[in-house]
Amino acid sequence: MDPLLDRFISESRLMVDEALDRYIPSPEIEPRVLHEAMRYSLFAGGKRVRPILAMAAADMIGADKFCVIPLAAALECIHTYSLIHDDLPPMDDDDLRRGKLTSHKVFGESTAILAGDALLTVAFEILSGFETSRIIPSHTIVEVIRDVAVACGSRGLIAGQIMDMIYEGEAADDSIIEKIMLNKTGALIRASVTNGARLAGANRKEIDILFQFGEKLGKIFQIKDDLLDLEGDATKLGKAVRKDDKRGKATYPSVHGPDRSKKLVMSLLAEANKMIEPFGKKAQILILLAEYVSQRVN
Ligand code: IPE
Ligand code: IPE
Ligand code: MG
Ligand code: MG
Ligand code: MG
Repeated sequence: MDPLLDRFISESRLMVDEALDRYIPSPEIEPRVLHEAMRYSLFAGGKRVRPILAMAAADMIGADKFCVIPLAAALECIHTYSLIHDDLPPMDDDDLRRGKLTSHKVFGESTAILAGDALLTVAFEILSGFETSRIIPSHTIVEVIRDVAVACGSRGLIAGQIMDMIYEGEAADDSIIEKIMLNKTGALIRASVTNGARLAGANRKEIDILFQFGEKLGKIFQIKDDLLDLEGDATKLGKAVRKDDKRGKATYPSVHGPDRSKKLVMSLLAEANKMIEPFGKKAQILILLAEYVSQRVN
């Protein structure tokens, strides 16, 4: 990995982990089992892609990545909640996540559901108490809260998740697959880059560019996830593989095969990079991150 990106990722991960540890009640606090379950999934070894994207976008606009820590932590809480619920038996019914048993396997289904609910809720507690509000105007913070809420709600992530379930075992055309990708994964990724930039003081035009970039990156991320299910290594991924086919998931690789999917990833990457050319050299970390997302092995 490029040493610049390597350093950016490890610094950002440390900052997010430290913030999450501060924001999430300790397992000593009642109800202990709930706080333990929230922490179990949060600290199981996720890649922290969404927080890192938010920090990279803020950095590109010219803010210190420290300024977006609450957003970064909130995004990871929302993402982790979505994974806990995604793994439940009535959804994807998975036993392994981030290299460990899934939440419901360890704590039981009711606690896993509630740990997910609590992670989603605490994300908005974290966002509303933005520590940096002394330097960020309150109307910007309200815009961020609203945009994140829309991205993870019934017109975003949850829309994608329900379509993913509805189209299990059903024929899906490209427009359906595109909607599933853009919502279940793209919405939160897009919200990570746009809101990282928004908090850093980006103007409308810059946010619009990052919206388009985020959507491309969201598609790259999901197609790559689908390809890794098809061809990846379960040990490296920390989750089961070859499950999408068995469940009849409507994915781009399931309709078009791995070769065409890889070609699409490459062309989306080129489009994403072209899109952020106006930011010049400042976009270097985001470009490296997009490349990393497209080439990742876990
Ligand atoms: C997996 O997300 C689920 C999708 C949205 C495709 P990640 O690949 O970011 O999972 P972690 O956070 O690293 O475990
Ligand atoms: C999950 O997509 C997307 C969300 C949780 C929002 P997948 O079901 O493909 O993710 P994995 O493969 O289980 O990580
Ligand atoms: Mg799923
Ligand atoms: Mg799943
Ligand atoms: Mg998957």
